[in-house]
Amino acid sequence: MKVGIIGLGYWGPNLIRNFMSHPEVKTVYGCDLSDDRLNFIKSRFPAAELLKDYNEMLKKDIDIVAISTPVDTHFKFGKMALDAGKNIWVEKPFTATSAESIQLIELAEKKNLKIFVDHTFIYTGAVQKMRDLVDSGEIGAIRYFDSVRINLGLFQHDVNVIWDLAPHDISIMNYLMPNSKVVAVSAHGIANYYDHENVAHLSVYFEDNCFAHFHVNWTSPVKIRKMLVGGDKKMLVFDDMENFEKIKIYDAGVEMSSKEKIHEALVQYRMGDMHSPKVQATEALSLGAAEFIKAINENRDPLTSGKDGLNVVKILEASEKSIKNKGKLIEINQYEYAK
Ligand SMILES: NC(=O)c1ccc[n+]([C@@H]2O[C@H](COP(=O)([O-])OP(=O)(O)OC[C@H]3O[C@@H](n4cnc5c(N)ncnc54)[C@H](O)[C@@H]3O)[C@@H](O)[C@H]2O)c1
Repeated sequence: MKVGIIGLGYWGPNLIRNFMSHPEVKTVYGCDLSDDRLNFIKSRFPAAELLKDYNEMLKKDIDIVAISTPVDTHFKFGKMALDAGKNIWVEKPFTATSAESIQLIELAEKKNLKIFVDHTFIYTGAVQKMRDLVDSGEIGAIRYFDSVRINLGLFQHDVNVIWDLAPHDISIMNYLMPNSKVVAVSAHGIANYYDHENVAHLSVYFEDNCFAHFHVNWTSPVKIRKMLVGGDKKMLVFDDMENFEKIKIYDAGVEMSSKEKIHEALVQYRMGDMHSPKVQATEALSLGAAEFIKAINENRDPLTSGKDGLNVVKILEASEKSIKNKGKLIEINQYEYAK
């Protein structure tokens, strides 16, 4: 396979490195407008073939175009690549609007090309382990997600902190609850420095008895990457700052006897053992690259497809409407297109 990567800023070099180390990839092209970035990549990856003009890259006989440019350019570059007959890898978040996502999905289907959306966390050992625990029934029905992703982060010029950081956590939530339907979103936040919010809280309501909350912040002095998943049997804590015990399973819960009046109900707390299962440490991006190449060879959608990208973008788009209206509840139909 031959792979071309557009956008060699912060994230693009990771794509170059991981595609280069895949045994089926023969040539990797890189493209960026900036000479500094091209020189940097040349020094780090001398075997990569570098170009300044994206149109020149699209003329090459390549199988995959990976797009790692700012979000507001994903649609334009994705459409050009699909039009040129290339499978596309698009960085999270997939596109800047759900209409753009749908257009790319439909174009790819028409041309029998594949879309991979880089929801990197889905390929981590920790998230795979969480999914196993959910699928096995050990956690029970998920009742809530409570997630914090904060640090002194890089401000993005084109999107706010929800669009930048929350796709990671929303994609994990969607992956752990593939059959649950999100029905409404509410978001609050503040833009202290320029047009885009740097601190935000996003609430997500489901059709059934489940709720999710995401707290994201580019201006926190401490770095926290923590997600609680409350099941009705057990509870999970995913702490990505931990080197070894990334996942902890708590045999904890609350049982309430039903009584007509709440003060008559008997609340029983269960606090059993905690254990921390071993999780695979293989780099997620290398597993993502391998999955996309395998999916193309097998003519199927990859694990994180355009439809998964759309399901995240719908929540982000609704959050944008809500945050501009002081947390107004915005209803969405998450699966109206992507079943
Ligand atoms: N999957 C992850 O965990 C992860 C992590 C970080 C960033 N990302 C995503 O990767 C994408 C890029 O983020 P970043 O932080 O690397 O941004 P960045 O600003 O550091 O890099 C973007 C690069 O794209 C180049 N570029 C822009 N327009 C171009 C054009 N017309 N032709 C050629 N090059 C062009 C810029 O020169 C720049 O070098 C974003 O979508 C971001 O959300 C994903």
